Amino acid sequence: MDKSKKTGGKGGALGDVASRRRKAVRVKAKSRRSESSRQWLQRHLNDPYVAAAQEEGFRSRAAFKLLQLDEKFGLLKPGLRILDLGAAPGGWSQVAVKAMGKKGGKLVATDILPMQPIAGVAFLQLDFMDEDAPEQLKALLGGPADLVLSDMAPNTTGHPGTDHIRIMALTEMAAHFAIDILAPNGAFVCKFFQGGAERGVLDLLKKHFAKTRHAKPPASRAESSETYLVAQGFRK
Ligand SMILES: C[S@@+](CC[C@H](N)C(=O)[O-])C[C@H]1O[C@@H](n2cnc3c(N)ncnc32)[C@H](O)[C@@H]1O
Repeated sequence: MDKSKKTGGKGGALGDVASRRRKAVRVKAKSRRSESSRQWLQRHLNDPYVAAAQEEGFRSRAAFKLLQLDEKFGLLKPGLRILDLGAAPGGWSQVAVKAMGKKGGKLVATDILPMQPIAGVAFLQLDFMDEDAPEQLKALLGGPADLVLSDMAPNTTGHPGTDHIRIMALTEMAAHFAIDILAPNGAFVCKFFQGGAERGVLDLLKKHFAKTRHAKPPASRAESSETYLVAQGFRK
């Protein structure tokens, strides 16, 4: 990751990623490749955030989403105690651990998938839906959190209604966990999809946070219905 240090700040210049000039790549049709995978590959190879993530040593283009959310909402500060839920392959953890600095702070990351180690990040591989997952994470953090991040997303089934319910179930679990573990004035950031099942989570967050705002960072693909909810000013 530490190639990103050369770019300065928490992760380099952000605003210019989408406008950095690159030669467009065209992917040819091949008999063994379906049209949808050809289109995916072509989109991936031409995605300025994929290229910028590689240049700056981030493990995922998602790193830019957290950098952009932080730029807008001022989430990351030195010395914070942070939980990163759904952390693999580690882009958000890379950004958060760098912002946390070396004086104090703690970053606990978790995912159902394995994640290559990142210096300064305590990683626990588990299914967040498991009954004892919250207790394990709390024990590893060893005290209240200042910031809970959830970029968790289950694999999609291709059925939009089912996918919406599955993702919002994870977000709701993460919200209850955040309410349990946050210190006063802490913050919670989660993936948030409109589609019918989100009202309950929103009401819960409005009750417990002074401010709740929706955000679509530029690095989140325009064609995706993904947004983020940023809740700040936690109160029990
Ligand atoms: C969009 S990716 C996260 C990307 C990450 N923020 C980054 O910057 O690299 C979503 C992650 O959520 C994880 N996930 C999905 N369901 C989960 C669950 N039940 N428990 C823990 N992690 C889960 C997936 O394995 C996946 O790695």
